[in-house]
Amino acid sequence: MKDPGWWRQAAIYQIYPRSFSDRNGDGVGDLAGVLSRVDHIAALDVDAVWFSPFSPSALTDGGYDVDDYRDIDPLIGTLAEFDALVAALHEHEIKVIVDLVPNHSSDRHEWFRAALASAPGSRERDRYLFRGGTGENGELPPNDWQAMFGGPAWTRVTEADGTPGQWYLHLFSTHQPDWNWANQEVRDDFLITLRFWGDRGVDGFRVDVAMGLAKDMSEPYPPWEQVGGFLFLALGADNPFGDGKHPLVDRDELTEIYAGWRQVFDGYDPPLFAVAEAWVEPHRRGRYANSKSLGQAFNFDLLYAQWDAATFRGVIQRNVDLASEHDTTSTWVLSNHDVVRHASRFAPPPDEPAEPGTTGDDSAGRALLGRGLARAEAAIMLALALPGSTYMYQGEELGLPEVTGIPAGKVQDPWAVVENGVMIAGRDGCRVPLPWTAGGVSFGFSAADAHLPQPDWFGSYSVETQVGDPSSTLCLYREALALRRTLQSEELLEWLELGPGVVAFRRPNGWISVTNFDADPVALPPGRVVLRSDRRDANEPLAAEATAWVLHSPGEAE
Ligand code: NOJ
Repeated sequence: MKDPGWWRQAAIYQIYPRSFSDRNGDGVGDLAGVLSRVDHIAALDVDAVWFSPFSPSALTDGGYDVDDYRDIDPLIGTLAEFDALVAALHEHEIKVIVDLVPNHSSDRHEWFRAALASAPGSRERDRYLFRGGTGENGELPPNDWQAMFGGPAWTRVTEADGTPGQWYLHLFSTHQPDWNWANQEVRDDFLITLRFWGDRGVDGFRVDVAMGLAKDMSEPYPPWEQVGGFLFLALGADNPFGDGKHPLVDRDELTEIYAGWRQVFDGYDPPLFAVAEAWVEPHRRGRYANSKSLGQAFNFDLLYAQWDAATFRGVIQRNVDLASEHDTTSTWVLSNHDVVRHASRFAPPPDEPAEPGTTGDDSAGRALLGRGLARAEAAIMLALALPGSTYMYQGEELGLPEVTGIPAGKVQDPWAVVENGVMIAGRDGCRVPLPWTAGGVSFGFSAADAHLPQPDWFGSYSVETQVGDPSSTLCLYREALALRRTLQSEELLEWLELGPGVVAFRRPNGWISVTNFDADPVALPPGRVVLRSDRRDANEPLAAEATAWVLHSPGEAE
């Protein structure tokens, strides 16, 4: 029997395949590119890799618009290359997690095309959420619900005979029709998809929009005013529908759907694993994470946490408690492909005084990044020392900041906001292809220009620049992950009181992590300092905005 709990204390590295490494020279990352960089992943000493979607897709939402769940996009590779990549990662004892997008397909999916070609009320239409319109001739959408990416959540189709017809629901873009999870064929087909990847050797799934699959589409539809505010936010005490009863998210029927998946998972040795992207009220996370369901659920609280000791401490305590209640482990996430990179997010606002030399050479994006990076390094060391799994996003091991000022013509994200010819908000800034070399075409990412433009300063963050520099962010990540492998355990934590601006805790094996959120240096507790993000000498006080790890065995002299 292989270890069924390998994911409980794992360090997991997220790869956004189109932006990781390109081997065939078309400017878009591919599986062969990932294969050529397995050494980089192995040197990070992570337990698993999570791949964002690589299935055939028109890329209207970065691959989260899937045409075919059981294939690879030809731009990215082939199934044979995928198999080779899984084998190479497994050889390094790195597990493989793939993204599954079950809330919606793309509008190019075979079943959606079949639905369009079939009549209202047909078996083909029933796999999606088609409804008649309102207004005199059905010219208005069935209700006032809105899509996440803006505009109505309904799009009207043209029937096969050319007349304007029904409307279909899409919580995201018009190219992402929502599946009807009340339909048995849909349910069965996803079980086939789970087995397809399980049989290919993947170890688990990251489940996109896991709280969204089940829906109550009965009339009368509640108005958006009641539904919308809760769609992706906490379904809190003021949720007018009550726990599990919101029409679009976090419904009780999900339990049964995921119990069916669990049966498939448990047919493998070790059982397949899944982590839910579930934007739900924290007390509901356990419903996705428990052992009869998916296994783990993302806690995104650190993505929204301000750089503040009390906030971090509160987030940690709450999530450790919640995970224990449901016999799972928590997840810690500082960055992913949907948010501003944390080195930029944690950069202090421009009215705070910066330390000398911390304003970068790119006026648009790099101001105050020196402190942002210091905080980012401190935060990842803190996260890696916590009980549970830490999910890291490609490029954070290089300390990459967010890329700003992407020109309008290059913007890919359907959520982007463009003003005066540049993207001012959106997710492309964290999806810019990685810099592997200090110079050259696309900084070693590809033989061609990268599909999203890389700024001139990217080379200074490259792997090549950092790998031989012991004081680099990359080396800090490698050292932290290697140490974590020897220190991490199922044991929880005990808080140490070192002052209000300090988050310090100890694991029962004597592993102490101290993070200084304050401006003044802090004396470290007794013990052997094994790693510190401020790069000071072992026995010096801990600098502001830094983390140190200290080993102090129980019973050892103070
Ligand atoms: C969450 C994914 O992380 C995001 O990138 C995507 O746009 C939405 N789900 C829709 O699939």
